[in-house]
Amino acid sequence: MKNRIQKTAKVSLLTALVVSSLSWDALPKKEYDPVITINGFTFTDLNRNGKLDLYEDYRLPVSQRVQDLVSQMTDEEKASMLMGTGMPGFDGLTPVVGAVEGRVPGAAGITFAIERLGIPGVILADGPAGLRIKPIRENDQNTYYCTAFPVGTALASSWNETLIENVGKAMGNEVKEYGVDVLLAPALNIHRNPLCGRNFEYYSEDPLVSGKIAAAMVKGIQSNGVGTSIKHFAANNQETNRLSINEHISERAMREIYLKGFEITVKESDPWTVMSSYNLINGTYTSARKDLLTDILRDEWGFKGIVMTDWFGGYAGFSAIAAKDATSNVTQQLIAGNDLLMPGLPAQKASILENMKNGKLSKAVVDTNVKRILEFILKSPVMKQYKYSDKPDLKGNAAVTREAASEGMVLLKNDKNVLPYTSQSAPIAVFGVTSYDFIAGGTGSGDVNEAYTVSLIEGLTKAGYPLDEELKKMYTPFAAKEKAAELESRKKRGMLALPERLPELQLDTKLIAQKATSSELAIITIGRNSGEGGDRKVADDFNLAADEIALIDNVSKAFHAKGKKVVVILNIGGVIETASWKDKVDGILLSWQPGQEGGNSVADVFSGKVNPSGKLTMTFPVQYTDTPSSKNWLGTPAANPVEVTYEEGVYVGYRYYTTFNVKPSYEFGYGKSYTQFQYSGVKVDQPVFAKQLTVSVTVKNTGKTSGKEVVQLYLSAPSKSIDKPKEELKAFGKTKLLNPGESETLTMVLTPKDLASFLESKSAWMAEAGTYTVGVGASSLDIKGKATFKVPEEITVEKVKKAFAPDVTFMELKP
Ligand code: BGC
Repeated sequence: MKNRIQKTAKVSLLTALVVSSLSWDALPKKEYDPVITINGFTFTDLNRNGKLDLYEDYRLPVSQRVQDLVSQMTDEEKASMLMGTGMPGFDGLTPVVGAVEGRVPGAAGITFAIERLGIPGVILADGPAGLRIKPIRENDQNTYYCTAFPVGTALASSWNETLIENVGKAMGNEVKEYGVDVLLAPALNIHRNPLCGRNFEYYSEDPLVSGKIAAAMVKGIQSNGVGTSIKHFAANNQETNRLSINEHISERAMREIYLKGFEITVKESDPWTVMSSYNLINGTYTSARKDLLTDILRDEWGFKGIVMTDWFGGYAGFSAIAAKDATSNVTQQLIAGNDLLMPGLPAQKASILENMKNGKLSKAVVDTNVKRILEFILKSPVMKQYKYSDKPDLKGNAAVTREAASEGMVLLKNDKNVLPYTSQSAPIAVFGVTSYDFIAGGTGSGDVNEAYTVSLIEGLTKAGYPLDEELKKMYTPFAAKEKAAELESRKKRGMLALPERLPELQLDTKLIAQKATSSELAIITIGRNSGEGGDRKVADDFNLAADEIALIDNVSKAFHAKGKKVVVILNIGGVIETASWKDKVDGILLSWQPGQEGGNSVADVFSGKVNPSGKLTMTFPVQYTDTPSSKNWLGTPAANPVEVTYEEGVYVGYRYYTTFNVKPSYEFGYGKSYTQFQYSGVKVDQPVFAKQLTVSVTVKNTGKTSGKEVVQLYLSAPSKSIDKPKEELKAFGKTKLLNPGESETLTMVLTPKDLASFLESKSAWMAEAGTYTVGVGASSLDIKGKATFKVPEEITVEKVKKAFAPDVTFMELKP
């Protein structure tokens, strides 16, 4: 287990920056009983004026209460309310040392409290792999550890919305019981390129998977009465120069790929808040885009909550928090519908007040944004004076993460059923430094301060497997030393330093040969870590490093020579190259970064206690250069990109690979099981599309082990009016645990919008007339059954306002 000192020594953005605040707790206690009783109802006299104000009367509609509150606020208070209370050390705020921490140390931000009106500060803390707060507090014997749940890629690979909702419930329990009001999660940017350093936090290259998983997560978290902030809205697809990069993206790609997941999440789960992203789209910061934050988010999708900026978003970066930069877009941000500026700077407040005075910022805009913020505050736990316990159900939540992680694991290869591995008579030789220092999750704001991480070695040992002792004795101190050096180097490199790969222990081939004799099976873990603030590289990261290739070669050769097998565990957060080495080994289990119970979760799948049912939510290409966005990745000029052109348009992920016939190493939707499934009876309930259409399929477990199957529905639409991907995922489902011989019939519904593509020329979602083919299958390349239906006449599904006017012209990829 990771010890506490090691874990808290971790350096990242938010441990280094302590939030100072005016919090509810900090309000001076007056010698006054604020309880007012009228007709048997009790109210809190929040402003202590001895009477019941409209806003204090919780029986009234929220809009009326908020109107009353706004009418009592000064301009000064309104300006303060439009931003957080800041981060010490920035823009003249009290430096970190000696700063007063808010009521939850380590939270990312807090909203302004109006003491005289009794309006408390609302606490916002990161996500998304769990709650991120400081685990240890000054002069306090208690600990405040949180559960590290599996990272986004791992959770999404379960394709199980019920499971995700349960994870959300567990996360939300920690949020609420530690006194936090909003979790800054989930994160659902599209995996545009496998090298994005934050892909581990995100779900998929496909917007439907991203949206459905995020919606389930929001429902789960918010069922606790706390809020979420879905992020980063939108197209935050690279970390390099993320605060200033200008992305040229077509309106169609925006709507079909980069916004679709957010649209699903907003419509299905009603998140309390949305976090705008750092980047610019077509020349304007997302936080200052009215088309994005008002026309689309609110008017088209019906979003009712608040929009906050990402931290220091909307100007060129926290490295140069020059007041003039920070304020250059403030007015435009507020007009666009970005209600709350985070973390908030004095210069921004001054700019708001000045522009209110000179008329550049109207009272109407200010009041609209302030009202939305007040509505949001009124529903927060702190406003309701919720008495949090500081004792969330950590034990119960450990069981939730253990189960979720094993369901998100993807069995990539299983020759001659090497897994499940049940023999416990002879030792297993466990290689790879990561086996001994398992990675629970990535770094940056998405990192959780958990009490422990179960390594692979611990998990296997607890499950009863004898492991080679000599290897353990060699690897354990080696892993500890390399890990310490890595942490030290990160600390020296500063706040957002990226994690580095630990080198492999150099093993003599003779020793490996001995192990091939004395043990029954070899396991090799390949580990990857990445984090906020930087992107991954091709060499020694996407591609295996020379020491890893040597390890796989030497171990496979020695074990195969003795007729023994080799299983690789991939403890990674994002995609790596697999094509060049997958044939050398017998089994590959993609465990992802599975959270704090990781070693136990792997052992559950390894032993067969859990039959793997995860499937890939992104493509594993043969080589990095097969990725469509590799041609323009990171933008130009290469040395320090300022702009990037999304030339691949809508052909992201499998939409590209299937349309352009580029064979991947493992395709989108792929994943094996310990059992087999037979698909039959794929049919549509009507030959001609009317208002909606139901597709059904029967899945039977024809193998010998109980298991679950993820079923995917791909649609091929006619493409006379515009080019379209060969197939697009439009629905998916997962069977219950089917016993051998058992079947289940799944039904999936298609609506007109599912049939539609976005036509820029008409500013509309259009479903073309013609024949549509539904393919139901086990992956994007493994379609088990097809059915067709007709759309007799073109359907205009939705007409919208034009958005994302281009700032340059460019050619988009077409088949
Ligand atoms: C990240 C966000 C995070 C915020 C607050 C930013 O650097 O991009 O995801 O929520 O910090 O910590």
